Amino acid sequence: MLPFFSRGKPANATINGRTIAVLPRETLLTAALRNGMAFPHGCRVGGCAGCKCRLVQGRVRQLRSASYILSDQDLDAGCILACQSVPHGDVRIEVDMAAAARRSRARVLSREPLTHDIVRLRVQLEEALPYRAGQFAMLAFDALPGVERSYSFASPAAPDGQALFFIRQVPGGVFSSFVHGEVLAGEPLSVTGPLGDFWLRPGAAPLLMVAGGSGLAPVLAMLAERLGERDARPVALLLGARTQQDLYEQEAIAGLQAQWQGAFTYRPVLSAEPCGSGWPGARGLVADFVAEHDARNADAYLCGPPAMVDAVQRRLLALGAAPARIRADRFTTLNEAPAV
Ligand SMILES: Cc1cc2nc3c(=O)[nH]c(=O)nc-3n(C[C@H](O)[C@H](O)[C@H](O)COP(=O)(O)OP(=O)(O)OC[C@H]3O[C@@H](n4cnc5c(N)ncnc54)[C@H](O)[C@@H]3O)c2cc1C
Ligand code: FES
Repeated sequence: MLPFFSRGKPANATINGRTIAVLPRETLLTAALRNGMAFPHGCRVGGCAGCKCRLVQGRVRQLRSASYILSDQDLDAGCILACQSVPHGDVRIEVDMAAAARRSRARVLSREPLTHDIVRLRVQLEEALPYRAGQFAMLAFDALPGVERSYSFASPAAPDGQALFFIRQVPGGVFSSFVHGEVLAGEPLSVTGPLGDFWLRPGAAPLLMVAGGSGLAPVLAMLAERLGERDARPVALLLGARTQQDLYEQEAIAGLQAQWQGAFTYRPVLSAEPCGSGWPGARGLVADFVAEHDARNADAYLCGPPAMVDAVQRRLLALGAAPARIRADRFTTLNEAPAV
C-alpha cells in the first residue's frame, strides 16, 4: 500500500483474468464499471465494503484507509476497497463476482411517516432478492434519472417480494427530498442488491446493537430475522436520537423484546431533549452508554451516522473489545466522499 500523497499513473488492472486500462487517478471500481464489468459495489464512498476485493499483485494508493470497515482477517488476506484504491503500476485483483447484486424492478406500495424526518417506504419487488437482514440495496427511481442511493433493508427477506426501507430526509439531499416530497404510490424504481457485509453472524455471545437515526433499519431487520430462528442470545439495544420526537418503531421494538427467547434490554438515549420535558430515560451521547455492557464478551453491531459509529467503535475498542467482533455500517452521504 502507498501513502495518500503518491500520484496515480496509467496502469493495467487484471480483474479475475480480464485486463483493463485504468486512467490516472481513477479508482479500480470506476475503471471496472467504465469497462462494463459487473463489479460488486454499493456506496462508492468507502462506507459499505460492497466493493471488497483481493489485491493479489501490485500496489495501490488508498484514498481512505480500509481498516475501519474491513476485518483484520480481510486485511491480512490482502483485501482492499476497489472504490478507494487507485493502482500504482499494474495490479492483479480477484473479486467474487457471484456476490454481484441483482437488479429488480419494483413499485412503491406505500410511504408512512415514522418521525418528522424519517419515512417508511414499502416496495413490491418484481423479483425477490435473496438478501440477509442487515444488507442494503441501491435504489433508483425512474423519475430521477442518474440518481442512485444506498438504503438498508428494514425488514427480513420475504417470499412475497415486499421490502421496507427507512429513509431520512437529508437537507438538500436529492433522493431523500424526492422520497419525502412527491406522491409516491405506484412510482416505479429499480432495487439492486443485496450489498454489503453487515449481517448477523451466528454465535452464542451476547449481542450489543447500537443504532442512530435511520440506522435502526438494518438492526430491526436482523432482530426480526433472528426472532424467526428462535435466537436466544442476550440482546442489548441502544438507540441514539436527538429528542423524543426522533424516536420511532417503539412498538416494534417492544414486540421484539416481548417475544425474544433470551434477555433483551432496550435503551433509547437522547442527546438534545429539552430540560424539564419529563423524559425519564437516558440523556447524552449513545457512545457514553456502551461502557455499561460487557464489551469484551459481546458481538457488537453498529449502524447509523458515521460520527456516531466511529465514536461507539472507539469506545468499544478502549473497553477491550476485539476489533473482529465489531461490525459496523456507516450511512455515509455523497458529501462525505473523500476527495480524489
Ligand atoms: C451502506 C449504506 C446504507 C445506507 N442506508 C440508509 C438507510 O437505510 N436510510 C437512510 O436514510 N440513509 C441511508 N444511507 C444514506 C443514503 O444512501 C443517502 O446518502 C442519503 O439518504 C442522502 O441521499 P440524498 O440523495 O438525499 O442526498 P445527496 O443529494 O446525496 O446529498 C447528501 C448531502 O450532501 C450535500 N451535497 C450534495 N451535493 C453536494 C456537493 N456537490 N457539495 C457539497 N455537498 C453536497 C447535500 O446537501 C446533503 O447534505 C445509507 C448509506 C450507505 C452508504
Ligand atoms: S462501494 Fe466501496 S465501500 Fe461501498
